[in-house]
Amino acid sequence: MKYMGSKRRIAKHILPIILDGRKRGQAYVEPFVGGCNMIDKVDGWRIGADSHYYLIKLWRAVQNGWIPKDNYTEAQYNMIKRNPQAYPEHIVGYFGFALSFGARWLGTWRKDKNNDCVGEAYRSAIKQFKKLKGVEFYNCPFDALIIPNKALVYCDPPYRGTYKYNGTKYDSNRFWSWCRRLVNQGHTVFVSEYEAPSDFKCVWSQEINAGFNQKKYFKKAVEKLFTKRRPKIMIEIRATFESKEEAIQWLQGSDAQPAEPKHTKAKAEPVEYDEPVEAKKPKAKKQEDPAKVQKRLVKAIVDFILADKVENMRKVRPLMPEGQKDVKALSVEQAQAICLELGIDV
Ligand SMILES: C[S@@+](CC[C@H](N)C(=O)[O-])C[C@H]1O[C@@H](n2cnc3c(N)ncnc32)[C@H](O)[C@@H]1O
Repeated sequence: MKYMGSKRRIAKHILPIILDGRKRGQAYVEPFVGGCNMIDKVDGWRIGADSHYYLIKLWRAVQNGWIPKDNYTEAQYNMIKRNPQAYPEHIVGYFGFALSFGARWLGTWRKDKNNDCVGEAYRSAIKQFKKLKGVEFYNCPFDALIIPNKALVYCDPPYRGTYKYNGTKYDSNRFWSWCRRLVNQGHTVFVSEYEAPSDFKCVWSQEINAGFNQKKYFKKAVEKLFTKRRPKIMIEIRATFESKEEAIQWLQGSDAQPAEPKHTKAKAEPVEYDEPVEAKKPKAKKQEDPAKVQKRLVKAIVDFILADKVENMRKVRPLMPEGQKDVKALSVEQAQAICLELGIDV
């Protein structure tokens, strides 16, 4: 399902890394499951949670066999937006995400003159929903989720300093401390973020288009995947215990003393075996001249059309503002919206 911050485009790169080494029967857990664009490509025992109430209502309804209609209208969208309490929660969830422009929660209708956004959302729902059979869904904040022992946990939280998801509180520092606790409890943890504390190691990165910045220009960002290994305890035996087992027992506080106290100096020190990596700060870029930005975006759209005139014109036309035919007259915002919707790289 279309979703803010969806990982659909990069799932093929990061899932093999996350799932590599997954044990038989090991639970795969997503505490920020969002549009299910990762979990729908995983098999076995799966748990998905999210703090968004209507979203989880939608996923639960899907579990019970609900499928959307392919003839919803903008008028229905606006009624639901004005008065969500008056409608079934899963329907509100579906309209709120799948039929909203840019998948922004109950923002504006996914405008499309041919009304094909409804058809497109419907077709992708039909394809995706059947892949969610058997997922356990929970509606809770990440740190209230009960996670089975030694699980594989993939976190895709709201990125620090980006769009805030409606009605949800998210504290990034608290999140990283919680991740450390999970690692210490024996879970395997992976996190998608732009930056992470230095004890988390970046295992994959790639530049992507990440929506708009505050001045409404395209923002490039580097998607990253982080993980943290469990620290090993190194036991250094300096003197003479009878055996290593005896030393370990002693360290663990057992009453048993070594046979003869010929010893004893034993020291336990935690050893980090991942080199901490310092996250590099991106260099601040100079603001580009708006006229140049407009030209660049228009050129990208024109190139896109020229690559396959009939087919691509068919895609661009419904996204043009009403009554406007000339691509060159598009404003920066309008051109950006079209590029983003069609995945045109600029
Ligand atoms: C980046 S999105 C996840 C997108 C998902 N991976 C996908 O590909 O569709 C982040 C999700 O975190 C949820 N969220 C925000 N704060 C949360 C919290 N404190 N606890 C749990 N979920 C939270 C949001 O509702 C949103 O669905």
